[in-house]
Amino acid sequence: MSAPERILVDGSLDGIDWATVKAELTADDFDNGRSPRALRRSFAQSQHVAIARDGERVVGTARLLSDGVCNAYLVDVWTASSHRRRGIASAMIRRLVEEVPGQHIGLQTSSAQALYASLGFREEPEFWAAVVGVWLDNDGNR
Ligand SMILES: CC(C)(COP(=O)(O)OP(=O)(O)OC[C@H]1O[C@@H](n2cnc3c(N)ncnc32)[C@H](O)[C@@H]1OP(=O)(O)O)[C@@H](O)C(=O)NCCC(=O)NCCS
Repeated sequence: MSAPERILVDGSLDGIDWATVKAELTADDFDNGRSPRALRRSFAQSQHVAIARDGERVVGTARLLSDGVCNAYLVDVWTASSHRRRGIASAMIRRLVEEVPGQHIGLQTSSAQALYASLGFREEPEFWAAVVGVWLDNDGNR
């Protein structure tokens, strides 16, 4: 299944107004504190990104960190609430996973299990995590 008609999903960050994206994330209660500049950096510095656009409006994001060999990590999966349940997140994730054949992809979710299960992901027990120091207190956010 591809993205719905008139929604374009690609890997380009061209022309994105990150302040608007942050406002959309905030409106959807999915802002995790990054400034527009830090958001831009997060995406620009990721190996693979998927952006869904409805015209000029960004209505979906996802990105994949990968070592290019064996491990990848999926983050920032979001579809604007106005555009959900139309296959946009699925289209973005499918696009990203095709970029990393042979690699193990990890992710963390507390609410979107059905989405990932529908794409072939399975729960693996004992995900462990730590924040080094204080969340977002680093040069990337200044
Ligand atoms: C989770 C999220 C990314 C899904 O985006 P989406 O574009 O609506 O997802 P899709 O349309 O591709 O959904 C594909 C399938 O996933 C499952 N799914 C998606 N959202 C679901 C929900 N809220 N409840 C139950 N199943 C859901 C369904 O099986 C769905 O297929 P269906 O619509 O034919 O039943 C979106 O709801 C979102 O941005 N939520 C807030 C941010 C978030 O939680 N991100 C995930 C962080 S891990």
